[in-house]
Amino acid sequence: MEENLEKIIEAVNVSYIYQTKYQKTKALSEVNCSFERGKVYAITGKSGSGKSTFLSLLAGLDVPTEGMLAVEGQDMRKMNRDAYRLNRASVIYQAFHLFPLLTVMENVMFPMELQHVAAKEAKARAQEYLAKVGLPETLYKKMPGMISGGEQQRVAIARAIAAGGEILLADEPTGNLDSQNEKVIVDLLCKLAHEDNYAVIVVTHNEAVAAAADVVYGMSDGVLSVVRE
Ligand SMILES: Nc1ncnc2c1ncn2[C@@H]1O[C@H](COP(=O)(O)OP(=O)(O)O)[C@@H](O)[C@H]1O
Ligand SMILES: [Mg+2]
Repeated sequence: MEENLEKIIEAVNVSYIYQTKYQKTKALSEVNCSFERGKVYAITGKSGSGKSTFLSLLAGLDVPTEGMLAVEGQDMRKMNRDAYRLNRASVIYQAFHLFPLLTVMENVMFPMELQHVAAKEAKARAQEYLAKVGLPETLYKKMPGMISGGEQQRVAIARAIAAGGEILLADEPTGNLDSQNEKVIVDLLCKLAHEDNYAVIVVTHNEAVAAAADVVYGMSDGVLSVVRE
């Protein structure tokens, strides 16, 4: 069988169980799917269907209870997941999650500082990423609380790409935005996949976001199916 070089993550019979003292919840049930570079994937489904659980496994925050997640063919269990989270996969959230006491520029420089990139280079690269997401230079020295939600989400995306990874994960990234800003963010995520070859995986309730995706998966009671590909 020919290897698909664009395939970056593969889920093989992935199940996940939350176990508390009193109960077990099967949040994911034998999920099989794969993700390629250069495409936008939407994962849709009702609240409580397992979308965020799946995204956190893809982000390397936890490992499947059963089954396997492979990154470029390597079992995530056998990988250094801290390095994976730092260097390869970044998560964008509905509530942006920027550092409130750092400027826009400092937020984008932050992942590069963790990677010990020299300050001068980090600053130059941060400017490049902020330009890529279309943020005006007049906002670079502002605190996140002083800019709009749509602008904050663009900063969060710039920070995510600053880490240098090829996997962008987003959990309801437009959930706090009006339809105009929603379109800006969706267009940006599509551009990152189609022009810069990121694998973009977006959990969303939003029809417009799903419509813009190349592949749509549906999650229902922890079971994943293909809606459109
Ligand atoms: N930390 C947790 N502990 C126990 N159960 C959880 C936890 N997080 C989520 N769940 C349960 O797992 C299921 C899937 O949740 P989640 O992945 O958050 O769904 P979604 O993102 O689609 O709303 C739900 O039944 C939820 O109640
Ligand atoms: Mg969720």
